[in-house]
Amino acid sequence: MQQNKQTKRVTTHTLQEMKNAGQKIAMLTAYDYSMATVVDSGGIDVILVGDSASMVMAGNETTLPITLDNMIYHANSVVKATKRALVVVDLPFGSYQGNSKEALNSAIRMMKESGAHAVKLEGGKEIAESVERIVTAGIPVMGHLGLTPQSIYKFGTYTVRAKEQAEAEKLKQDIKILETIGCFAVVLEKIPASLAAEVTQSVHIPTIGIGAGNNCDGQVLVVNDMIGLTKGFTPRFLRQYLNLFDEINNAVASYVKDVKTGNFPNDKEQY
Ligand code: KIV
Repeated sequence: MQQNKQTKRVTTHTLQEMKNAGQKIAMLTAYDYSMATVVDSGGIDVILVGDSASMVMAGNETTLPITLDNMIYHANSVVKATKRALVVVDLPFGSYQGNSKEALNSAIRMMKESGAHAVKLEGGKEIAESVERIVTAGIPVMGHLGLTPQSIYKFGTYTVRAKEQAEAEKLKQDIKILETIGCFAVVLEKIPASLAAEVTQSVHIPTIGIGAGNNCDGQVLVVNDMIGLTKGFTPRFLRQYLNLFDEINNAVASYVKDVKTGNFPNDKEQY
């Protein structure tokens, strides 16, 4: 998609209008300027600067080690690249769980220092006070329910959440709470498709699914997974549109061969 001066920025209101009109919302992650430029120009509605950066950018095993400063750095690079997409940034583990004042300070730092348009926080009732305080300060908040990777050591596994009735009931209550206190959208990660369909119907705000079936108002994937850069990660919910790991691998091998055989650079590639 070509960008021009007339390109209209997607806002939280646009997403609400899309839900109201039955139009699906497309969201992908990005963590750096180059990738965000391509993703934005591809026509994506929302770019999530996810704390999955901890794994795909920094090589950590979980999302827990990434810091607020790290996330601000990634978010700032993405914001500079986007002309159309709404840029939402994860508040990382440890930057909002302490109390609502800490949460507000983290959200304010993120907005001031990165230029992002909204923040995302994981959890329901437990973080409601923080979400409310951030929203009251004029900062749009996206919720995140179901599998919440910042709690991975509590869950013990990345398996599907809310299969049991008690957890499903809690999720249904949590999404209502998040809607009431002003979240503009909620990510539903790795929950049964039937539950995602039910809660999507039960709220006015958009739901964005990852491993949550086709009846959410939108979908999100980690861009590195979707373009096949992350080798060997093949969960059922992932559709891989490219196999960039092998493509780049082959390109590197060709370059190494050309350098070593003296085939690069040739006469036209020098001054
Ligand atoms: O950090 C992330 O990439 C996310 C998505 C998986 C929703 O939170």
